Amino acid sequence: MSNHFFTTLSQYCKKDIVPMHMPGHKRNPLCTMPDPYSLDVTEVPGVDDLHHPVEMIRDLMDELTKYYDSKQTYLLVNGSTCGILAAITACCYPGDKILVARNCHKSVYNAIKLLGLRPVYVVPHRLEGMLGELGIAGEIEASEIRRRLKENSDIKCAMITSPTYEGIVSDIAGIAEAVHEKNIPLIVDEAHGAHFNWIPTFPETAVRQGADLVIESLHKTLPAFTQTAVLHQTGNRIDEERLLWALQTYQSSSPSYLLMASIAKCFEYVKTEESFSAEHFVKNLNDFYKKTDSLQKLETIRCEKMDLSKIVISTARTELTGQQLEELLLERYGVQLEMSCGNYALGMATICDTAEHFDRFAKALCDLDRSLSYAEKGAKKTFTYNIKPPEQRMFSHEAERLPKKEILLAEAAGQTAAKDVYLYPPGVPFAVAGEIFSQEMVDVLLDGQRSGYEVRGVENGRVFVCHEIK
Ligand SMILES: Cc1ncc(COP(=O)(O)O)c(C=O)c1O
Repeated sequence: MSNHFFTTLSQYCKKDIVPMHMPGHKRNPLCTMPDPYSLDVTEVPGVDDLHHPVEMIRDLMDELTKYYDSKQTYLLVNGSTCGILAAITACCYPGDKILVARNCHKSVYNAIKLLGLRPVYVVPHRLEGMLGELGIAGEIEASEIRRRLKENSDIKCAMITSPTYEGIVSDIAGIAEAVHEKNIPLIVDEAHGAHFNWIPTFPETAVRQGADLVIESLHKTLPAFTQTAVLHQTGNRIDEERLLWALQTYQSSSPSYLLMASIAKCFEYVKTEESFSAEHFVKNLNDFYKKTDSLQKLETIRCEKMDLSKIVISTARTELTGQQLEELLLERYGVQLEMSCGNYALGMATICDTAEHFDRFAKALCDLDRSLSYAEKGAKKTFTYNIKPPEQRMFSHEAERLPKKEILLAEAAGQTAAKDVYLYPPGVPFAVAGEIFSQEMVDVLLDGQRSGYEVRGVENGRVFVCHEIK
């Protein structure tokens, strides 16, 4: 059985597939390491300790701190997930109120449940044009943050995601100003923006725009192994002792030296090859967009406030769903995308993509475009969902304790969700445990399933609701 696992994996990796998805190294061995066993050690004398760094790990952290202009940069070996859990734990005590962008990743919702926090939501701006029609959440506005903070004077910190999975960036400087007026910290999930620091034409980093804690997944957009990430701390609003405790709580007590070595290698690469790779990358990306601008039915969608390495392709004018586009690109052209959802699909490009990757991807889209028909006139091609939070009956940690029962989703209106229900990807909850299903939500979720969205938390058309209350 274990051999089956290994042979399946290695056979997959030998296929000639263009990986427009994570991890950011694209299996392009730019940052090579010797045989992994020769580097896999534990905290023996001479190789430092991630949980008490005083030697080589401390040196690496100090170097990163300098490059990122942070007060302190920490290494993460359990992905941005553990960085987000640690950041929220450092800023909130159990029962505290937290201001949260509703389109945050599920790790934020898990932190809220674990700590029994009371979330106050801010809803992303509705985007104009095709991005909005596709249901892609827009930026978080500083004015909304300010309004919610005014209404809730006891909020302990604010948490937002920028860039989003689809590349939408928010005005962090403006948001930081609004949050700091209340002298509370701003946490930014920059999991998808680890490349911003290294590519001059990309958006400014959240660290340089004044966020207090920033989490970046190196593995998503830079040449580093899966699970590698960093957490940046700036300024003086963070209780460092609690942050260190939280990092020790959520990170393995046997942190992988291979992952830490991968972080070191990744930085060595971007530091020394920065201008070379970044220049090539930006050129290749621009060429890709020029080539795909001639698409007639498919469409590569961009907007001003966007990380253009996230390539969003709309199928709204065609007969295809995003999922069908993803399948056709793989079957016919050997191009694997990162995800698809409703009427769009998403490719992720990084500095490790070769010119050949971009070329094959662009050619595949142009060729496919010629063979497609337009969507039938009047056919409902866009699926939008409102990510306005539903009415909340109780907090998620309270719903967790109640007995649950399974019922048909179609009959769930008026019932209280016992588990989070979210569209995956991107993994943003539609209903959080403790919130009440409205008829509109039920209809949208059923429609979402029909439109090709994977709805997690719904099994065979059934959802878990709290047993004792209607
Ligand atoms: C917006 C966002 N934040 C955080 C995470 C978690 O990152 P990681 O996979 O590094 O734990 C993800 C994962 O996809 C994500 O999309």
